Amino acid sequence: MTQHPQDRPWWRDAAVYQVYVRSFASSGSRGGGPGVGDLPGITSRLPHLRDLGVDAVWITPFYTSPQHDHGYDVADYLDVDRLFGSLEDADTLLATAHDLGLKVIVDLVPNHTSEEHAWFRAALASPPGSPERARYLFREGRGPDGSEPPNNWQSVFGGAAWTRVPDGQWYLHLFDSTQPDLDWRHPEVGDMFESVLRFWLDRGADGFRVDVAHGLLKEESLPDQERVLPPPGPDSPPTSMVERTQVDEPMWDQPEVHDVYRRWHRVLADHDGDRMTVAEAWTRTPESMARYVRPDEMQQAFNFAWLLAPWSADAFAEVITGTFEALEPVGAGPTWVLSNHDVVRHVTRYGGGTQGLARARAATLTMLGLPGSSYLYQGEELGLEQVDVAPEDRQDPSWFRTGEVGRDGCRVPVPWSGDAPPYGFGPGNAQPWIPQPADWVSLTVEAQTGVEGSTLEFYRAALAARRELAPVDSVAVRVEGDVLLVDRGDVTIALNCGSDDVPLPAGRVLVTSGPVDGVLPGDTAVWLGR
Ligand code: NOJ
Repeated sequence: MTQHPQDRPWWRDAAVYQVYVRSFASSGSRGGGPGVGDLPGITSRLPHLRDLGVDAVWITPFYTSPQHDHGYDVADYLDVDRLFGSLEDADTLLATAHDLGLKVIVDLVPNHTSEEHAWFRAALASPPGSPERARYLFREGRGPDGSEPPNNWQSVFGGAAWTRVPDGQWYLHLFDSTQPDLDWRHPEVGDMFESVLRFWLDRGADGFRVDVAHGLLKEESLPDQERVLPPPGPDSPPTSMVERTQVDEPMWDQPEVHDVYRRWHRVLADHDGDRMTVAEAWTRTPESMARYVRPDEMQQAFNFAWLLAPWSADAFAEVITGTFEALEPVGAGPTWVLSNHDVVRHVTRYGGGTQGLARARAATLTMLGLPGSSYLYQGEELGLEQVDVAPEDRQDPSWFRTGEVGRDGCRVPVPWSGDAPPYGFGPGNAQPWIPQPADWVSLTVEAQTGVEGSTLEFYRAALAARRELAPVDSVAVRVEGDVLLVDRGDVTIALNCGSDDVPLPAGRVLVTSGPVDGVLPGDTAVWLGR
């Protein structure tokens, strides 16, 4: 049954724009200087997001952090890193966003802290077996002298998931060695995160994106993993983070993790205004994703199957159908995402250049037409491609641990204006923390604004048309040749994944991803009204 818009929580159909803090915009006046994005920089650019037509903004971690993983290594969950500003700057950002009609989703990092968190410092300063160590996963090593890691788990960023401390014990880190995993079976851990949630909810956060939501609880005996990916090396193919975290083993997706989200559900329910959580859970199936969004758990989970699907009408149809089938029994709405700060930008994934951009726009238009919530990543509205970042400029911890290229190429600062780097990213000519390409002149917000056919104007048109769609909770999907057809209410979405023109399906053209002149060209999508 279709609900009326006023009965639906805001997040159910929201278009959410992801801001990667250090790469969005710099005021130049905070600790990072003009080359590092900051909170006042974001606040000053919120009108761009309102004009783009999104409903909410998700901001990657801005807490106090030594920045080994750009903020996903938190030293203090209740303060803002001086690089990015202050708590007052966060309050101003929240108030300004709300004045503009935008919701704000804060990024929560509960699986691990930074090695500089007070708890981990205390753990290192305390002996094996002490209460201070019990909040993390310290264990004795294997082998006669304990010099082998306690089990065979590999870090998502490469290498062993264990690091040895001077007294001989080892601690677990599913990511970088600077990101020790918490022991979520310790009661103080859950209590601490409840107070973190309440702190940001009281400051006005509308929701939380939950980092590594499927990893908090490990199988209690920490058994060896049966299937281990081959270690990366010069002769092995690059293994993306996506593939690594898809390994479904004792560290991921344990049943007890759901108790955490039941508790958080109750905490959010104490606050007015439809607060929400969205899980970053790289689970293996739509059914395991659906477990995170049961009625008493989280509100949303990222649907990474959409992002992982190859360019094929059948593959897209399968993801859409599988998603709705898995979510229907739990009554949750779907989410859709094509790009974020961990994956290769979708223009590049679809082949780059003119064809990659055409496909990216077509996939985006298809996504924006689907019922549910769509997550957009900063810069995709400009058609940015993955950047080939020079080795000396790379900062991703996975690059240092494995020698693989890493994720820096999708994190290059946004070009706003002007004809040379820093393209208005910050005041003056100071260069950003990672270089921008010299050929982004025609991709700036300024260069694309008001230009018919530009990717920015396409996103604005698509998001405006999306606001006119009547909310629905289901779709009918079919494939005809290379064409995906999705009926949603009185609108049909058609996506031609082939290279040949096909006749334009009947209907009134509402919005298109590229030129449509009586036919639906290859790599093009259209919304048709009946
Ligand atoms: C997922 C985040 O999206 C990624 O950027 C981060 O490196 C890991 N979790 C570890 O926190």
